[in-house]
Amino acid sequence: MTRHSFLDDYSEGAHPDILEALLVTNMVQQTAYGDDIYSQEARGLIRQHMGDVDPDVWFVSSGTLANILIISAALRSHEAVIAPASGHIVVRETGAIEATGHKIITVPPVGGKLTPESIDAALKANAHFPHMAKPRLVYLSNATEVGTLYTKAELRAISRLCKERGLLLLLDGARLGAALSATRNDLTLKDIAELTDFFWIGGTKVGALLGEAIVISNQELREEFRFHIKQRGALLAKGRVLGLQFRELFREGLYFDLARHANDMAMRLSSKISNAGYRFVAETETNQLFPILPNTLIEKIKADFDFYVWEAHDESSSVVRLVTSWATEEAHVDAFAAKLEEFAS
Ligand SMILES: Cc1ncc(COP(=O)(O)O)c(C=O)c1O
Repeated sequence: MTRHSFLDDYSEGAHPDILEALLVTNMVQQTAYGDDIYSQEARGLIRQHMGDVDPDVWFVSSGTLANILIISAALRSHEAVIAPASGHIVVRETGAIEATGHKIITVPPVGGKLTPESIDAALKANAHFPHMAKPRLVYLSNATEVGTLYTKAELRAISRLCKERGLLLLLDGARLGAALSATRNDLTLKDIAELTDFFWIGGTKVGALLGEAIVISNQELREEFRFHIKQRGALLAKGRVLGLQFRELFREGLYFDLARHANDMAMRLSSKISNAGYRFVAETETNQLFPILPNTLIEKIKADFDFYVWEAHDESSSVVRLVTSWATEEAHVDAFAAKLEEFAS
């Protein structure tokens, strides 16, 4: 078996159905800047999941861009974001949000998540006005950066607190497909549209070539969002490329099928790793796994597999991150498990 990468869920190009759709529509002339028929259809298909919320939907090329666009459009210059310290905008976006002039107030994550209590504590600790930046927007990710899930009750409690305290709620859905397709999930797209002011649906990590769909239910932000998109260089002339991919993902449920497959592969890998006697730092709920492996074993497995060594656990072992995807095959998982056994014996 050739070398395989568990580094992330975007190591391959795109699902063949998406490439096929791009090919079939290639010579059809379309209006530019997101007014093409495919983007309109994709918006309609996504909106169908949201009942009477009827949000605006915009397609952009990357997750960092989605976060920058939403946060910078929603906040005034003195307003701040509350986020878990493990949040993508905090640790992996090169200070992109801070570069728009907004402070991020970090709170300790609980299993990668925010809680009403942690948000409340951040509000109390950031109330000396006008000397402190004013908390105005709460950022969370589902699935989280450690692959865990928010339940409906958890998201509802956070949403309620946000409404009571005048905070906007943003859900980063880079891996929302994995979250919604997880066995334990009880949230729907409609719930999320109702409970948040804005969220985005990741395409890049679930088989699209690239692209994320921003969904905005907040009335005030909807009004002029397209100006923000254009001003930040995010309104693609060939918006059809993004719209078409989302039309394909949502036309017959490919989005959910691919995410479910990634989760199934993660569960298979997770049970093989725990059967081999290794523990995890976070429960495997979606397509990211965080087992603790001996450093000597890691070195040996790296000869055949790519994955991130996430952090040191103790002197002799480390937490690694393994990500399964729409393209992972059972054979990849089984080959990894076979290596664990080979080096254990
Ligand atoms: C939770 C989360 N948010 C945002 C992003 C950013 O996406 P991009 O790399 O497309 O900017 C990622 C990418 O890994 C992510 O995992």
